[in-house]
Amino acid sequence: MGSIKLRTEVPGPKGRAMLARRASAVASGLGKATDVVVDRADGALVHDVDGNTFIDLVGGIGMLAVGHSPPAVVRAITEQAQRILHPSALVATYEPYVRLSELLNEITPGAFAKKTLLANSGAESVENAVNFARRFTGRPVVVCFEGAYHGRTLLTLSLTSKYGLFKQGLGPFAPEIVRIPMPNLYRKPDAMTEEQYLDWSVQQLDLAFIAQVDPSATAAIIVEPVQGEGGFLPVPPRFLRHIRALCDRHGIVMIADEVQCGFARTGKLFAIEHAGVVPDLVVTAKSLGAGTPISAVTGRAEILDSAHLGGIGGTYGGSPIACAAAIEVIGMVRRPEFLAHVRHLGEVMREVLGGWRATHPLVGDVRGLGAMMLAEFVRDRATKEPAPEETLAVIRRTVQHGVLAMRAGLFSNGIRLLPPLVITEAQLREGLAVLDEAIGFVEQGRQAPAVAR
Ligand SMILES: Cc1ncc(COP(=O)(O)O)c(C=O)c1O
Repeated sequence: MGSIKLRTEVPGPKGRAMLARRASAVASGLGKATDVVVDRADGALVHDVDGNTFIDLVGGIGMLAVGHSPPAVVRAITEQAQRILHPSALVATYEPYVRLSELLNEITPGAFAKKTLLANSGAESVENAVNFARRFTGRPVVVCFEGAYHGRTLLTLSLTSKYGLFKQGLGPFAPEIVRIPMPNLYRKPDAMTEEQYLDWSVQQLDLAFIAQVDPSATAAIIVEPVQGEGGFLPVPPRFLRHIRALCDRHGIVMIADEVQCGFARTGKLFAIEHAGVVPDLVVTAKSLGAGTPISAVTGRAEILDSAHLGGIGGTYGGSPIACAAAIEVIGMVRRPEFLAHVRHLGEVMREVLGGWRATHPLVGDVRGLGAMMLAEFVRDRATKEPAPEETLAVIRRTVQHGVLAMRAGLFSNGIRLLPPLVITEAQLREGLAVLDEAIGFVEQGRQAPAVAR
């Protein structure tokens, strides 16, 4: 017997009532990938207020590597809450902040002396990483990439790509930001081989430091080793190595944004480890906290120590409760058997999604790294015309049949798989079978109505 249990349509009567309350009380620009109204969740399963059980292939947008409410994390949070909720690290020192920093210094790439600053969200830590880089180098410019997503605060939205969904009408944006094309092997010019395209991409990067920006004015290059919102594009290792070489040549700080791709998602603790590249700063969030709000900047001690006393920090950064959760998470994800399970999940995804390439004309590309996989939907495999409406229709049907799924990609035409990494193979296959059926249904032209995001 499978894990999915459907007792009502989705949403059911209680869910619809809550959605109506949300519509009248909550700012409408807050998107939602599904109309599921959650009551509770465990592992890779979500139970809604109408008694339906779903398989979760979104995992809070990659926030739940260790699954929903793992007992060890809940226990650690509870024990910590009984001691102290939060004294603020700006007021007093407490062991969980120090312990988590020590652990992050230990597990992030690089054998040099490291330090850590804790914050609350991915965006907040990206901002801090840029502040550190500017302070350390005394330079203003930050180089980022097309397709990047780094958050929604003013600086991080300025670093973020994709106007329609994220940036429309929200300018003016922060200055001193330069955006460079990111290689996308699926959308390379047909006339070029992959090698030629990568040669060209590397040349474009070099050219940018002549045509667009002075390297001696550049504080940082920030890159997601696997672009998340941009469409699960693993950055080619050669391109990452070239970024590292440019940073070394010009004294630029290399920042790896591992907010979505970090914490075992790709089968290694950090995605950049696949390329053998060591960044100067690593930004983490999402799965670090198992659902509690926490993020971190970790990296070279001399860069983290470059801010003046009082130049960094915030009231809530590194709350003991979130630290307690994160310490448990690190203990769980670094176990060899956890990483081996993730790699196996990745193989299952590759096998099943690879099959879709063969059977579904709508599926133009299947890509990713480890258990971070995406299927890109196109109307025509020759022209690669994106199929965002069809993608929405697939998601709508998938949710109605008991699986949480979400889009990604510069053209909003990909379905990304970010399940809790504790999902069993049987649950993963059951969830993917529902997606498979939904793709076939939409291909037959019987489209369901669109959802919000
Ligand atoms: C790569 C990356 N960086 C930064 C962020 C921003 O994180 P947050 O939403 O916690 O501010 C995200 C969020 O999706 C992300 O995927």
